[in-house]
Amino acid sequence: MSDLKLGDKAPNFDAETSEGKINFYDYLGDSWGILFSHPADYTPVCTTELGTVANYKAEFEKRDVKVMALSVDGIESHKGWIKDINETQNTTVNFPIIADEDRKVSNLYGMIHPKADDTQTVRSVFVIGPDKSIKMTLTYPASTGRNFDELLRVIDSLQLTAYNKVATPANWKHGEDVVISPSVSNEEADKMFPKGYKEVKPYLRMTSQPELKK
Ligand code: BEZ
Repeated sequence: MSDLKLGDKAPNFDAETSEGKINFYDYLGDSWGILFSHPADYTPVCTTELGTVANYKAEFEKRDVKVMALSVDGIESHKGWIKDINETQNTTVNFPIIADEDRKVSNLYGMIHPKADDTQTVRSVFVIGPDKSIKMTLTYPASTGRNFDELLRVIDSLQLTAYNKVATPANWKHGEDVVISPSVSNEEADKMFPKGYKEVKPYLRMTSQPELKK
């Protein structure tokens, strides 16, 4: 089983999807990406998840994140299921869903956990940076639907901390104060954060959220 870790290169692949044949890297271009798996078509939790992602498309676009889903069923099944998702979730599925019948992509990304299920994927998420490296992974069991507000929150943190020497504290949300990276000295912090910072402890310095740089 593939054992992809943070910082590893996200494997490239060609795949049949609900929007035609796609090369993953071509699809991502220079954008961020999110790739997430669904155990199977015509399942209730997946139906709500895909509807939620479709309804959040503008939020992903705002963050320059390209969305791609995966399920181990075929194209015709995906097309029928998308009609159901659109109807029941009051949306239009507006991103590709990989038809991974031969489990090629699932195995490449270690999305099948045999002790959970031999053939269906678990609920995996990979967030991929513009350099094609893996920035975040998450694994939920089939019975637990993911929280896409949390995924947007994590993407906000990943993008902020990629370009600024800060980290985000517990339960942080966009716009709230952040932590200055421990590698930054007080002298550097004085220059880097002109609005100032509060030294709660020498290792815990809080400052207002810097502007998002790209
Ligand atoms: C679901 O998406 O509803 C689901 C899929 C596999 C197992 C349990 C639930």
